[in-house]
Amino acid sequence: MCGIVGYIGPDQAAPFLLEGLSKLEYRGYDSAGIAVFDGDKIHVTKSVGRLNVLAKKVEISPLQGSLGIGHTRWATHGRPSDANSHPHTDCAGKFVVVHNGIIENYMHLKEQLIAQGHTFTSETDTEVVAHLIEECYAGDFEAAVKQVLEQIEGSYALVFMCQDEPGKLICTKQDNPLVIGLGEGENFIASDIPAIISRTRKTYILSDGEMAIVTADSVWVMNRQGIPVTKKVFEVNWDAEAAEKGGYEHFMIKEIYEQPKAVRETMTSRVAKDNSGITFEELNWTKDDVSPIKKIAIIACGTAYHAGIVGKYLIENLSRIPVEVDVASEFRYRSPLIDEQTLAIVISQSGETLDTLAALKEAKKLGARTLAVTNVVGSSIARDSDQVIYTWAGPEIAVASTKAYTTQLVVMAMLAIYMGAIKGTLTTDKVQALCQALRELPAQAYEVLEDVEPIKTFAQQYGFNEDVFFIGRSLDYAVALEGSLKLKEISYIHAEAYAAGELKHGTLALIIEGVPVIALATQQDVYEKTLSNIKEVKARDAVVIGLGLKGDQQLEKYVDHTIFIPATNKFLTPILSVIPLQLLAYYAAVTRGCDVDKPRNLAKSVTVE
Ligand code: F6R
Repeated sequence: MCGIVGYIGPDQAAPFLLEGLSKLEYRGYDSAGIAVFDGDKIHVTKSVGRLNVLAKKVEISPLQGSLGIGHTRWATHGRPSDANSHPHTDCAGKFVVVHNGIIENYMHLKEQLIAQGHTFTSETDTEVVAHLIEECYAGDFEAAVKQVLEQIEGSYALVFMCQDEPGKLICTKQDNPLVIGLGEGENFIASDIPAIISRTRKTYILSDGEMAIVTADSVWVMNRQGIPVTKKVFEVNWDAEAAEKGGYEHFMIKEIYEQPKAVRETMTSRVAKDNSGITFEELNWTKDDVSPIKKIAIIACGTAYHAGIVGKYLIENLSRIPVEVDVASEFRYRSPLIDEQTLAIVISQSGETLDTLAALKEAKKLGARTLAVTNVVGSSIARDSDQVIYTWAGPEIAVASTKAYTTQLVVMAMLAIYMGAIKGTLTTDKVQALCQALRELPAQAYEVLEDVEPIKTFAQQYGFNEDVFFIGRSLDYAVALEGSLKLKEISYIHAEAYAAGELKHGTLALIIEGVPVIALATQQDVYEKTLSNIKEVKARDAVVIGLGLKGDQQLEKYVDHTIFIPATNKFLTPILSVIPLQLLAYYAAVTRGCDVDKPRNLAKSVTVE
């Protein structure tokens, strides 16, 4: 996720670009840049770091001109650095481009362009687009953009500027947002409405595959085939703060709804389109890399730790390597049995959690190979690990982690399949079935998000109870842990998760009339046993909400309420089953009037021990 802006009109472009980017920093903030045409040439100023670093540079050396584009970055391909910051240019500096998304086939295009004599200055996928348009240009900017779009694959929102045709900006999008703000004798382009709301409330929201030619006085929109599209003006009636949250009341709910996209992006270029397997270009492991691993130690905190517990089930089942999961703050002090035959996997959304970082250093000291799974490119944990797999969830602003968790689960599943395929513990058929199931997840996650009314009702009904229990077996237990943490941290309801079979060994004493129990029953191999545990709590007059798979005819006979999710491969179920639990926590917190995005006593990045 990144933020992009563009301006064309009579005013100086730079002040708008910087102000617009400041409203998009929630989309990424590891580096920023702007490009402005001064009537003769395009000048680019960019910098690693927060936007104020760029603003200072621009203050010292102002960029004059009334045509420009800008970008605030959330790194995916290439670490945060001056060189990797956008805008990117071609060799001659005549074309400038800003991009939000991932160009999947960039490696292939880059090799072609290098063979044609192009020299690259960054590690990004985006720079390929700038060189490609240079290659395609034969005196017609619009035609060149069209040719570029025919060759690139992936997800993108792009804005192009051409020194030889300075009267226009051209933009297009596929799977990433782009809006055009309609002014009087000036027009604006942005990833999101907050960037333009101070200048205009009239917008065109571009749809996938559409391309727009934006001049100071006109906006022409066409589809891929070049056929003009008549757009309806969308009048924004939110205030600026609501606009930043995309019209949602809180970042948390916005991020819950971003999960289908985050899950899809995390799989991009990793799950083969023909389902033949998983590729991690960043690992490139062979049998020689996987066979020496005798044990895996997963280390993390909080929600990331819960992703690690799911990871243990998946890796042990699919790649048959023993896995231990540790809370990072405990790991260092328990004299762990780690050596060079251990692979230590540290999971961290922020990549800065001190406990996790310290555990990573300890694992390294003991001789382990280390692999980070993180959402923040160039973070401390990413830098300190031997290898890194990035989750491509985009920035997570709400303190309660949602989309980072689901993308961590996707990485755990892909890694388990990847190692299983290399080791030969998975047959080709099983790999194919798992890849197919992975690729169906974004649509299924979307389906879960379309059915929120019953969850809202339960949250309102039970939101004022003081205690809630979550039960489940096997992977359902792992998800129950995350469901209970989510409820605790944002609604302040006391919640506990138990392995359903463990309840009778003590906790059943707490189950009395009216206590809500959320029972996860998605795992078919332990289904009957879970039903028995549900009967145990029902016999004590608990109120049970059962979470099952669509098509389950039995569950509703034993519970008070049901929530159903689409059926998928059992190993992938957690990626869907956690979503109703996130929603339940969210709506319970809203019902109780809690500060959802900034729960008391908590911080997004915990850099103290
Ligand atoms: C809970 C939550 C925390 C984090 C934990 C680790 O919603 O977000 O439990 O998961 O503080 O943070 P990272 O993943 O940044 O290391």
